[in-house]
Amino acid sequence: MDHISMDEQARAILRGNDRGGYTVPTAGLYPYQWNWDSAFAAWGFAQFDIPRAWQELETLFSGQWPSGMVPHILFHKPDPGYFPGPDVWGAEDKGPIPSSGVSQPPVAASFVRAVFEKDPSAGKTHLRGLFGKLVDWHRWFMTWRCDGGAIFITHPWEAGRDNAPDWDEAMAAIDPQGVGEYTRRDTSHVDPAMRPTKEDYDRYIWLVQRGRRLGWDDAKMAEAMPFKVADPTMTFILLRANRDLAALADALGEDRSEIDSWTAQLETGAARLRNASGVFDGINLNTGNHTGHVSCASFLCWYGGVESNVMQDELKQAFEACAYPIPSHKTGTEIFNPKRYWRGPTWAILNALIGRGLAEMGHDQDAARLCDLTRELIARHGFAEYFDPMTGDPAGGGTFTWTAAVWLAWASPSAGGV
Ligand code: SER
Repeated sequence: MDHISMDEQARAILRGNDRGGYTVPTAGLYPYQWNWDSAFAAWGFAQFDIPRAWQELETLFSGQWPSGMVPHILFHKPDPGYFPGPDVWGAEDKGPIPSSGVSQPPVAASFVRAVFEKDPSAGKTHLRGLFGKLVDWHRWFMTWRCDGGAIFITHPWEAGRDNAPDWDEAMAAIDPQGVGEYTRRDTSHVDPAMRPTKEDYDRYIWLVQRGRRLGWDDAKMAEAMPFKVADPTMTFILLRANRDLAALADALGEDRSEIDSWTAQLETGAARLRNASGVFDGINLNTGNHTGHVSCASFLCWYGGVESNVMQDELKQAFEACAYPIPSHKTGTEIFNPKRYWRGPTWAILNALIGRGLAEMGHDQDAARLCDLTRELIARHGFAEYFDPMTGDPAGGGTFTWTAAVWLAWASPSAGGV
């Protein structure tokens, strides 16, 4: 298919997933507004409808809690096709819109910057409205989810990489006793072999129940959530988003000193995530152990502005091992599973962030190669949620908002690549 009709299809996916001011990631499987999905959607919309891009971001921030936290799901309208819904989270009174009780990787400031730079004069008013909210959100991370400069998660859903092997040790330490009966909905939309296991879900729901019992209180969560893992997704993404937020402060003539102090802390935190082999991974804060895995999040170092020869070697290996890198978990390991969500599949959104980071840090050839392969992957296999890195087979949900957005903003020949 030629790229013009791919561009048209991608725009049609964004329009088709529009529920009036926000987009769902895909109909059926994810029927609400997800935090980082929406920020990617805004990046996609900005390629052909800048006002709609601002609206996406403004709707996302309309769900911000008084604490500054921006929830990972906003339940705008009831939908029985998804579990766990607002009745399970029990966070209805915490924010202006019924929502989940945890956050998600803060890519928003970076995409606010991208949307703003498309048309700064038209964007100034929108930026003024969002700037303080972004600062409050970043401050919330630095206050409640920061351990020695590294950002930790209290639930695997917070990192977005639900069943990544990085959480295995911390998840194994949880005994999900008393979680009770529940019915998953995800496996009625998607092949269960492409989704997390029942053992994972028991713990996901058990952790939601625990957060609910703690009243989603930040201090109590930081103290008493049994799952606390410092995460490269969060740490590199916030580090990068913070630099973008500082640039936005400059554009508005706002003071950036607090933001710069966070950047310095996050740089220290990112350095802590380098394990004894030189790879960036997570740290289980309950044991102090590095998680020991090469994941797609390890390759976000360049996006966070951090150089690494070891990760360059890993990148070379990923290009050699996979037809369509970057696998979410390293190939050739016992754990690698090319179809199961974050335990092997390639995600176009991660590729876009990694590719941008590579280009910005002078690795132009690798950046171009990753972009070319992602273009070929989507052109041949469609706008899937994720893909088998060996064969390119589409996996998870179809007609996916963020894959369409990444196509329009980065992978399509009309996007100008890296
Ligand atoms: N990714 C989770 C799900 O699959 C929630 O964010 O439902």
